[in-house]
Amino acid sequence: MDLRRDVLLGGRLAMIRGGGRVLAWSGDPLLRLMYRPWSDRPDLLHRRLRDGPQPFASRSGVFVVATAQLCREVVRDRRYGVRTRVGGTPGGAVAGERDPLLEPVDLSILGLDPPDHTRLRRLVAPAFTPARIAAREDLVRTAAERLVDAAVAKQRFDLVADIAVPLPVAVIADVLGVPDADAATFAHWGQAVGAGLGGVRSLRALHRLERATGELRGLMSDLLAQRRRGRPDEAGGDLLDALAAAEIDDDEAVGLAVLLLLAGFETTSGLIGNAVVALLGSDTWPTLVDDPSTAAGVVEETLRFDPPVQFTARVPHEDVDLAGTPVPADSTVLALLGAAGRDPTVHTDPDVFDPSRTTADEHLAFSGGAHYCLGAPLARLEARVALEVLTDRAPALHRLPGAERRRSLLLSEYTRLPLATTAGA
Ligand code: HEM
Repeated sequence: MDLRRDVLLGGRLAMIRGGGRVLAWSGDPLLRLMYRPWSDRPDLLHRRLRDGPQPFASRSGVFVVATAQLCREVVRDRRYGVRTRVGGTPGGAVAGERDPLLEPVDLSILGLDPPDHTRLRRLVAPAFTPARIAAREDLVRTAAERLVDAAVAKQRFDLVADIAVPLPVAVIADVLGVPDADAATFAHWGQAVGAGLGGVRSLRALHRLERATGELRGLMSDLLAQRRRGRPDEAGGDLLDALAAAEIDDDEAVGLAVLLLLAGFETTSGLIGNAVVALLGSDTWPTLVDDPSTAAGVVEETLRFDPPVQFTARVPHEDVDLAGTPVPADSTVLALLGAAGRDPTVHTDPDVFDPSRTTADEHLAFSGGAHYCLGAPLARLEARVALEVLTDRAPALHRLPGAERRRSLLLSEYTRLPLATTAGA
């Protein structure tokens, strides 16, 4: 442990925490999204931000856009990147480096600008085309049936631990080519990392995160080395084969594999949980039970209504005019994807969960532009199949007390969701 580094980081953390709380008390709606009690009602803060002047210049130094139109514009605009012009973390303290507090995890392609982003994205994109993903439907269904049957047999279960987490882990492990034996370890470390993805709030959390990422990287590195020794099957093999065969350095290959694992399951498990909560909380569950072919619409409506990823950040690489406001190069602009999904100029009665609405798929839950979510077809497939199997096996599903939500500006998801059913009801 590096004591000097810890003292410096601890000091900065205390300043960030203290400053953030003061700004939240002073009424800054962006900071209020991070602190209780305000953070319990993100929808109210989103409305305030959407209805106010755009962009909102937070006193934390960040610009915020919250309407659907501006969020879409910002994520698609090629004048913006995800790093500062010298390659640093947006808003970070050290120019040209990854800031351990704001970006505690190597984000691989998510945190790269062209040409590195283009080069690495091209390498993995073929594994995620809609056709390659559709071909996995049987595998996803078999895994979902196994998990749902085991959960329903208990009659009382935790949707998150029993289904929503293990399903995406099994699927992404298969896409990557990770053996079953390692998949459980992945889930464990992956969840630890997921908890800190939106930035860390304490030194302890930072150390936990660094340990978890270190373990994950170690596992991936071993698997890649094994593949390289065994002559990877570049043409017909899995994604680890493709990475092992590619001419990229070890660090990049390991970073990419870890990102795919993390991006692939924290988010998808959030989507499955948020869908079930919205369905059971709005009396639309019986409609889905009667007609499971509406599951795809439920998934889109959940992505609009309560998206697992709530915002994304962009950095203009030149001075830009954003809806009439001059925004200097290297500023941080946050696009509130969650707020965009509730924009009343796009969706009628946006606060109502209505899977039959025709505008449901006009959301930004998967962002847009160069960083548009690579796993969108996979996430949609997994969530749809999970819902189809759940309605089939557990039509009398209902909630039990004890649900827990993650407290994070970035992720909206349940970490515990107790449910009960009557087997065969
Ligand atoms: C409901 C589930 C999911 C949600 C809500 C989601 C959301 C997102 C969002 C918002 C971004 C873009 C962030 C930005 O604009 O900077 C993104 C990027 C990404 N997602 Fe997903 N994601 C989901 C599932 C998945 C899955 C299953 C995978 C597959 C393994 C995946 C892999 C990725 C990757 C690799 C990127 C980075 C793309 C790039 O930077 O070019 N995601 N995701």
